Amino acid sequence: MLVGFMGSGKSTAARSIAPDALDTDVLIEAQLGASVEAIFRRDGEASFREAEERITLAGLDQAASGAGGGLISLGGGALGSQRVREALKHHTVVFLDADADTLWKRVSRSKRPLAADRDAFDALFIEREEAYLAAADAVVPALRRDTLGSALPDIHRLAALGKGPKLLWAESDSGNYPVWIGSGIAGRVPLPVGRRWAVISDGNVAGLHGDLLDPVMARLVIEPGEQHKTLTTCERLWSELADAGVTRDDGIVALGGGVVGDVAGFVASSFQRGIPIVQIPTTLVAQVDSAYGGKTGVDLPSAKNYVGSYHQPAAVIADVDFLETLPAVEVAAGMAEVVKTGLIAGGLLWERIAAGNAVDDAMVLACARTKLAVVREDERDGGRRQVLNFGHTIGHAIETATDYRQFRHGEAVSIGLMAALRLSGHADLHVQTGQLLAAAGLPLSAPGVDAELVINALQSDKKRKGDGTVPFVLCEAPGMVSHGHVIPASAVRAAVEEVCS
Ligand SMILES: NC(=O)c1ccc[n+]([C@@H]2O[C@H](COP(=O)([O-])OP(=O)(O)OC[C@H]3O[C@@H](n4cnc5c(N)ncnc54)[C@H](O)[C@@H]3O)[C@@H](O)[C@H]2O)c1
Repeated sequence: MLVGFMGSGKSTAARSIAPDALDTDVLIEAQLGASVEAIFRRDGEASFREAEERITLAGLDQAASGAGGGLISLGGGALGSQRVREALKHHTVVFLDADADTLWKRVSRSKRPLAADRDAFDALFIEREEAYLAAADAVVPALRRDTLGSALPDIHRLAALGKGPKLLWAESDSGNYPVWIGSGIAGRVPLPVGRRWAVISDGNVAGLHGDLLDPVMARLVIEPGEQHKTLTTCERLWSELADAGVTRDDGIVALGGGVVGDVAGFVASSFQRGIPIVQIPTTLVAQVDSAYGGKTGVDLPSAKNYVGSYHQPAAVIADVDFLETLPAVEVAAGMAEVVKTGLIAGGLLWERIAAGNAVDDAMVLACARTKLAVVREDERDGGRRQVLNFGHTIGHAIETATDYRQFRHGEAVSIGLMAALRLSGHADLHVQTGQLLAAAGLPLSAPGVDAELVINALQSDKKRKGDGTVPFVLCEAPGMVSHGHVIPASAVRAAVEEVCS
């Protein structure tokens, strides 16, 4: 059952995989003998919605019994009906996802009755987006015609798993992949077929969850912690993979937090010039952020994430049950990335975070969806992707200045967010975000850390330009984060000194 806003291309996408797919707008027009626009004008919206509900419910039954190749696309407003929303609970619902700007460009010159005024369009978009996300089993980007076809085999796998797990389809210039999110899915979602898999985890995760995947061709274990996100660890892993007989026909599963994901991802991208990686993130940081988008790498003593590569995963399986064994301090660390992502996304996600809602599958999905939308636009950090570094520039410098030992990554990001919000200059947001981070148990400052060491570490930031400036990401308001700001050195110093005092 395809749902989505007007202009998301539901009918075209449906026909691309089932030429005779049903379409509720077509069924309505056939039954009422006029175009949707004419029915709206002639009978008014309330009357149209009544007919839409009746015809949609009948259409769902027809599609479920195989008509239209088992596929039906629903009118943009069909989910306004409680009865339709109830009925959809028994079907596999795919949300064709696009942002309001893209959709407005597509429909503003059409005759659609609800696309006459941009403000009204935006208000309707916000209202309906919530309903689509609540109903969706799968979220698939609506920007390209062939996307639904590419995602279809995984949508069938999702349907076979039954209700519960969600599928998010990730797109980037160098490849597409399924992201699975849900409870108890790690042993159930099959690894991509046709390969043998070697699992890399750290000592903690291996002890708790190492047996979950079976059979696998090898299980390799690294020391836990950021101090081991090094080339030395990679070299050991490359040798162990060779000893285990791993070939280019095989793949690696990263079972662990962001450290395991970054290290195993880099090892996979370089072992025999690159073999596939499946990310199975087990921390909140990894489930809401690091497992997606293909950035892999290790630290140098002098700078964070200095050696690495882009290597998109073959799949991500984010099982929220892993969070049950995660120590509270690590959950808190993950909240820093949740808050950062909420500031980037704004809208519904920020509202939920600001209201103090607990992390659940829907919040993990919302964070992953936000990150993937950014990566889809700019996989290689040439522009927009830099917003994902909000709070990270000073955060990374604090990690480096303290030898990666004093703060968890998420804790350093929390402090970095406070500095970045200070530089952004919006006092209310600085205070509100500080309260949210503190409520999660995160530090807002790094007292005793030498500000001079942090400022030196900033000079090694990967984003530093030839002229020596380090561009910053700033936040105007939730949903309005922009990159590439050159800040006077004195202001940067003041922000660093404030968080180090
Ligand atoms: N590649 C990216 O895009 C990206 C994005 C954000 C962060 N990162 C990186 O991620 C790293 C931080 O990740 P992290 O916070 O997950 O740290 P981590 O991987 O070190 O995990 C934190 C701790 O939790 C333990 N652990 C993991 N899963 C567990 C579970 N389910 N139960 C109990 N214990 C568990 C680990 O053994 C470790 O001790 C940093 O190196 C950061 O640079 C990368």
